[in-house]
Amino acid sequence: MDFREIARRKLPAAIFHYLDGGADDEWTYHRNTLAFDDYELLPAQLSDVSNINLKSTLFGEEIDWPVMIAPTGASKLFHAAGEPAVIRAAEKFGMIYSLSTLGTITIEDVGAACKAPKMYQLYVFKDRGLTRDLIDRCRAAGFRALCLTVDTPVAGNRERDHVYGFATGKFRLRSVPSMLQHPGWLYRVLIGKDLEMVNLAASVRPDQFADMSLLEYFNSQLDRSLTWQDVEWLAEQWDGPLVIKGVQTVADCRHAANSGATAVMLSNHGGRQLDGAPAPVDCIADVADALHDRLEIICDGGVRRGTHVVKALAMGANACSIGRGYLYPLAAGGQAGVERGLTLLRDEVERTLALLGCDSVDKLGPSFIQRSLPGH
Ligand code: FNR
Ligand code: LAC
Repeated sequence: MDFREIARRKLPAAIFHYLDGGADDEWTYHRNTLAFDDYELLPAQLSDVSNINLKSTLFGEEIDWPVMIAPTGASKLFHAAGEPAVIRAAEKFGMIYSLSTLGTITIEDVGAACKAPKMYQLYVFKDRGLTRDLIDRCRAAGFRALCLTVDTPVAGNRERDHVYGFATGKFRLRSVPSMLQHPGWLYRVLIGKDLEMVNLAASVRPDQFADMSLLEYFNSQLDRSLTWQDVEWLAEQWDGPLVIKGVQTVADCRHAANSGATAVMLSNHGGRQLDGAPAPVDCIADVADALHDRLEIICDGGVRRGTHVVKALAMGANACSIGRGYLYPLAAGGQAGVERGLTLLRDEVERTLALLGCDSVDKLGPSFIQRSLPGH
């Protein structure tokens, strides 16, 4: 969380609050992390923890530890080094990298830059031709997994974005002083056009969103009519691992499996969409009980500590993913920041396993965890 404070100092207010904020009253946003406190870790002492194995598998690939990079849009907003910095760090740390549809680097450039297994996060637009085009490009660029985000039929009500003007693209007067205090940022983004959403830009003519910010255009293009039949369509188009991001109930996870998905990200979009949605960690047990043999389960949201990762795995998740957990470090220090953040997190996971008396992430299970009693 120290990276968050550095990010707050380094970024113009509108940008920091876009990164940091959640929807409505931010109840879900806070709950995502606080919910981990409702679980207790039960150590098995004297278990020979001289060698700790963090390696696991996800999407049929070996991963060095069970944490992956969640897809987030427009990394260049937060640091000039942008997505390539995160890609290089993820590669060094043996993690799966995800590229967002709203990324500020092309699918082809990620294909060339990133040798590690990677996932492309798709928003399905009203224009299915655009969607098919994106899928073909992912296949050609060597992406391993395709991920459909399903918790975004409309954009969430991020009130901080309204206050600081990020939502409209017409930054409010009150955000101007903070921008002027960050002239390097201002030049890069507003004049250098670092912010172009290059993957969409290839298929969208600038005059199609002439009067709106790209975010507003994006909003207008989201397809609210999407159903599980569209997931079946997607599964036919894509023969690799198919991940559904943004489900929280057993019923939806069953729909996902029946529609051809191979993994789910239990997620509420980091508290940025439906406020009042439960914390991902609280959704794991039921989904794992019902569907662990049909789906890989990724806990996405609120992860800030190694103990959080270990708790999620003990509850039955195959892996966790992090969003702000690498974005704060990116904003604070570019690639070096991300590497430092990942080092801290990975060391915490390893240390927690040793203290827990468990020598391998794949051995984590219900015997290592209990719900804390209410009021304790
Ligand atoms: C996101 N997230 C997101 N998800 C997605 O599917 N496509 C996207 O383009 C984005 N963009 C995005 C931008 C920013 C600034 C943030 C913070 C998040 C959500 C992301 O993938 C993930 O679900 C959350 O970040 C997980 O919560 P934590 O780890 O941030 O608590
Ligand atoms: C966000 C959208 C763009 O969370 O996914 O900001």
